[in-house]
Amino acid sequence: MWKKGASKNIIDAELASASAEDLHFSDGRIFASMCAQPLEVAVEAHVRFIEANLGNAGLYPGTQRLEKEVVRAIGGMLHHEGAGGSIVSGGTEANITALWIARNVTRRKKVVFPKSAHFSFHKACDILGLEPQMVGLDEKFTADLDEVKRVVDNDVCAIVGIAGTTELGAVDDIEGLGALLPDGAFLHVDAAFGGFVLPFLDHGPPKFDFAVPEVSIITIDPHKMGMSTIPAGALMLRDEGQMRTIRKDAPYLDTVGQAAALSGTRCSAAVASTYAAMRFLGEEGYVKLVKGCMDVTRYALEKGTGIGLEPVMDPVMNILCFYAPDVVRIQSEMEKQGWKVSVARNPESLRLVIMPYVTRDSVDGLFADLEEVLGGLDD
Ligand SMILES: Cc1ncc(COP(=O)(O)O)c(C=O)c1O
Repeated sequence: MWKKGASKNIIDAELASASAEDLHFSDGRIFASMCAQPLEVAVEAHVRFIEANLGNAGLYPGTQRLEKEVVRAIGGMLHHEGAGGSIVSGGTEANITALWIARNVTRRKKVVFPKSAHFSFHKACDILGLEPQMVGLDEKFTADLDEVKRVVDNDVCAIVGIAGTTELGAVDDIEGLGALLPDGAFLHVDAAFGGFVLPFLDHGPPKFDFAVPEVSIITIDPHKMGMSTIPAGALMLRDEGQMRTIRKDAPYLDTVGQAAALSGTRCSAAVASTYAAMRFLGEEGYVKLVKGCMDVTRYALEKGTGIGLEPVMDPVMNILCFYAPDVVRIQSEMEKQGWKVSVARNPESLRLVIMPYVTRDSVDGLFADLEEVLGGLDD
């Protein structure tokens, strides 16, 4: 610990130097992040509510009201105005909480999820003492329903479907999973990434939300395609009453004595930020934003096929993967050129996430360097 405090100028210089070491979305070189560059209005809202802590909700009736409005707006977007829920720190917390509720309601042990599921489901099973039952993927890279059928039984507490897989952006057949749901089990949909994309696509998105009657809980992250600040995930429940199964006494807090969240203190500035982003963009704004991302995604697809790369699948949303030889080496060579791309493992391929800050110009730059890197692979 420092013995003496430093001046604001010194701190500012130190922070500027640390920030200069970081990459920034505005550099146009990041194709490997699922987080948004938050809207200015969202950043301002975040700063204004920097003190808010819904872990001690009684002190913050205004923030609580904003949270209710955000949950109602997201519920409407997901075809259930009456949905309940809360803003949490992100997709991981939402997924863990979803399975926590499913376990407590059902008192069962098994969770069925595809091998494309985010690693937060492994964390959740570990923490909650649940038994993961992974199923393989079909030719569309979505959960193999025949395998699901084979493994479900009355010990299943939840089947998980992914609406926008982390690696490929594939959308599981949520209706198909619903048809296989054992009595009393939960159907949890992880739409952490896809939740703010699918409702706004112009090409007839698959049904993935509360419009599917079996869907019980949905994870959807405002800090990804919702254009909010970090940390903002949302846990959305068809039946808000189920939250009571994770409620704990919190006698010292001004929260009517009970709290139903994994976190204690909650960074509730993200509630205001999410409210501001959604209020500012409205449905029309998200439609435009998603259209922009999909246009750039298709442009990148053409660029990739133009240099002889084969896409893993036709992109459903703004994630694009190409088969390529020695992808790990390509990734590291691209890094030397200042580009951040990632590698998908199932199947092994070069992965590009086309967030709203990715422009056609940066796509041009990336593919020009990628072509050179591919040409030099035999050296
Ligand atoms: C589908 C999916 N679910 C969950 C998560 C975890 O979200 P977070 O990193 O906000 O905890 C991610 C992260 O990329 C994701 O893609």
